[in-house]
Amino acid sequence: MTEVALTVAIVALKSAASVLGNCLATEGSRLFELKEQIYWMESELAHMQSYLADLEANQVGNNRVAALMNDIRDLAFDVGDIISTDFPKIASYERKKGFIGWPKWVSCSFSFFYNAHNFAKAVEGIKKRVQEINRRRETYRIEENHDREVREKWADRQSKPRDEEQTVVGFDQQIQKLENILLDTDAQVRAISIVGMPGLGKTTLAKKIYHSVRTRNSYNSSSYFNASAWAYVSGAPNVKEILRNIEHDLRPGEEKWKDIDLEAELYSFLNGKRYVIVLDDIWDCKTWDKLKASIPINSKKGSRIIITSRDKNVGIHIGGHNSLHELQPLSRNDSWDLFSKKLVHPLEYTNDTSLSPGLEAIGKKIVDRCGGMPLAIVVTTSLLSCKEKEEYAWKRVLERMGQVQNECLQILALSYEDLPAHLKPCFLYFGLYPEDHKISVDDIVRLWMAEGLIQVSGEEELEDVGEDYINHMIARNLIQVEKRGSNGRVRSCRIHDLFRSLCILEARKSNFFHVSSNTSTNSSERLRRVSPHSLIDYLALTQPIPKLYALLSFNQSDCEREPTRKDLQNFLEDLIYIRVLRIDDIHPVFFSKDFGNLINLTYLKLGGISTRAKLPSTISCLKNLLTLDVRDCRHPIIPNVIWKMKQLRHILCTYSLCYTTSTPSTTKCWLINMDKADPIEVSLPNLRTLCTVKSCDFEADWLSRFNNLRKLGIHKVTEQIIRVLSDATPISHNLENLRLEWSDQKMKAHVKANLNLSQYENLCILRLHGPMQVFLEKEKLPQNLTKLIFDSTELEMDPMKVLKKLPKLKILKFLHRSYIALRMACSGGADDFPQLEELYFEETDVESLILEEEVMPRLKKLVIKGRDTKLWVPDRIAIITSLGYLKG
Ligand SMILES: Nc1ncnc2c1ncn2[C@@H]1O[C@H](COP(=O)(O)OP(=O)(O)OP(=O)(O)O)[C@@H](O)[C@H]1O
Ligand SMILES: [Mg+2]
Repeated sequence: MTEVALTVAIVALKSAASVLGNCLATEGSRLFELKEQIYWMESELAHMQSYLADLEANQVGNNRVAALMNDIRDLAFDVGDIISTDFPKIASYERKKGFIGWPKWVSCSFSFFYNAHNFAKAVEGIKKRVQEINRRRETYRIEENHDREVREKWADRQSKPRDEEQTVVGFDQQIQKLENILLDTDAQVRAISIVGMPGLGKTTLAKKIYHSVRTRNSYNSSSYFNASAWAYVSGAPNVKEILRNIEHDLRPGEEKWKDIDLEAELYSFLNGKRYVIVLDDIWDCKTWDKLKASIPINSKKGSRIIITSRDKNVGIHIGGHNSLHELQPLSRNDSWDLFSKKLVHPLEYTNDTSLSPGLEAIGKKIVDRCGGMPLAIVVTTSLLSCKEKEEYAWKRVLERMGQVQNECLQILALSYEDLPAHLKPCFLYFGLYPEDHKISVDDIVRLWMAEGLIQVSGEEELEDVGEDYINHMIARNLIQVEKRGSNGRVRSCRIHDLFRSLCILEARKSNFFHVSSNTSTNSSERLRRVSPHSLIDYLALTQPIPKLYALLSFNQSDCEREPTRKDLQNFLEDLIYIRVLRIDDIHPVFFSKDFGNLINLTYLKLGGISTRAKLPSTISCLKNLLTLDVRDCRHPIIPNVIWKMKQLRHILCTYSLCYTTSTPSTTKCWLINMDKADPIEVSLPNLRTLCTVKSCDFEADWLSRFNNLRKLGIHKVTEQIIRVLSDATPISHNLENLRLEWSDQKMKAHVKANLNLSQYENLCILRLHGPMQVFLEKEKLPQNLTKLIFDSTELEMDPMKVLKKLPKLKILKFLHRSYIALRMACSGGADDFPQLEELYFEETDVESLILEEEVMPRLKKLVIKGRDTKLWVPDRIAIITSLGYLKG
């Protein structure tokens, strides 16, 4: 838990060091010294982190260690606070240079040196505390007491292949498939890698197939195995012990090989035999690399290795992608089946397993809480089996599902502990989302970014590294993919309820966050993040949390009360440390408040307002703001000042609502600047997302200054915008997602004549929404599109001839009035629509659709909604159409 606090503090120090490195190095020796001090703190904390990484996981009950860890955690918190409060005052100095006159410069310089002095003093204080901690560590010889606890945990989990036969549900097909692979000597698969979340049944499945194939008589058929072994590997493996276990299974009762010969003997024993070896619960690739020298790869045809792992990458490393067998949670039916079977007590001599309707209803709720995880179901049933089969008793269990969770959590916790330190706080962030929430990858990555939890090096992009973190956690089965985009990227994910509980538990231990604002006064002192049910809940706190970094409320309360102006005023005044503010149930009054003093704010997401509400222009004071997300406000008005907030990376609104047309007083100052023909200040070099803004809110030419844009959405597209976008030099080489909307019929001609997107090599998602009559010629299309959506395009000519040559197109959608002719046809062969997987017609006028025999060789889904379209399609498409066919 201290480790998380340290990781967060180190990240804060790293970014502070780089800011200092960039802007202050030239300001004199005093500042050089400051930079040095920050580097020093960073490296000291990093040392402490590696010292603690083992210590923390392994050592329980040693008071001296506990005290030391508390000291280090407090130190980490204080470092974070200093970086949050004192440092921004110094860092903001650089930005003021150049724009101000001489007197102001003098006063600025004075306050700068004053702040720098304070900061240096605070750093000195920290330095002394670090030295004191190191001294105590040495004086009291607080040594590591090696992995006792972890080893005990592993020992508990140790699997044995010949455990008594147990009830297994839902695996029939998988068992059949894997047995076929094992027994088929011609199958080109050397390994089977069973991977998945903890407790899903990997070991259970491996046991079933291992047991089934090894007991078949090898004298009857050449396709059977004549050597078999099962070894439990675990997260703290001892390679020699594993090899000894394999030896024991291969030649039971025989004299043991000498230690020195073990590897070579094993190799020569296996060589020439047809073996099956199971390596259960293998955690990292290194272990395999050490074992593989003893296991001949080209042994007798048909030899197999079966591994189970929570980490998909380990499976890929050992057996390649083809070897993967990914386990999913049990279906609701199978979960219920397992639950019912496990409930029958072995000593109950009765066949009557039926439950009363009341018990069944409660039982189903209990099973739902287990989320398809067999481990949770099994633990629950053992709890229920010592209770009376009465509704009141089961209800109590349902209410206390936490008890079941606790038992499962100990097993899940091992996966968390095994994560690299820098990913731990990122993973904990998942616990801040409500239960069963679909979590957008972009969203959570922006939150990590705002908290400075993403560590980049060199030219790496924060968003890309954040995506790597997500993929890492997916590979380790800590989170599940909910949806992938047409370009293969994960767009949303979910976290199993048990893992979410784990996050909440770990976060509470380390004071990383609390999910409700009900905190005791003691813990609120050190609490930095909360996720209250609603803003009202938070405001109802008798004592606000003094140093709050993040507040995320997901509007989960049904409380109708509205905050008063006074409440909000106080709320904002208390938020001086705040970095992340996400409030789904904000009140319009909030918008009229001045929140320009929230200088640490890096992430602002507001939702829940259904009336017109205007953000104050003091938003421009938020010099650290990276994300502004008002998509969930119905009519937000954003002042023009955002166009000069250089650091902004993501602006997200629903149909832009920034304005320039009327001239409200709050934005006047900025408009005067513009009148001076000095739109020079308009520059958002860091902007990655601008979606979706109205064309009247900005000058078309500004687009070319947003040259790192990845996602752009424009409403009411104009002729000028078409011109700028179609210029031979793309506005951004990185543009990946473009959404253009217009409704003016006059635009038809401009779009047809001028729209040219061929220069956008990275553009993969394009949505065109507005009348165009005729689609673009092939030369004007970006060639790497993976998804294309037409909406209200009123196409009169069949665009298939052009579209079918797009080499990477995977998803094609014709939505409302996008095509107004009655017939659509696609002729050609397998190289027409070579990658297309999904084709949609929703509320179009198409009466007949004709697809020739060979086209769209990879089509998996054809959906037709809202019209009775006649189809002339090959059988393979007819089949999938009947599956996906939806009549409106
Ligand atoms: N399909 C199933 N039918 C019945 N019981 C199951 C099934 N799958 C798993 N179980 C039970 O769930 C528990 C956990 O299963 P198992 O140990 O196989 O999970 P695992 O995926 O190997 O977990 P870990 O990642 O922790 O090694 C065991 O008690 C097992 O008996
Ligand atoms: Mg297992």
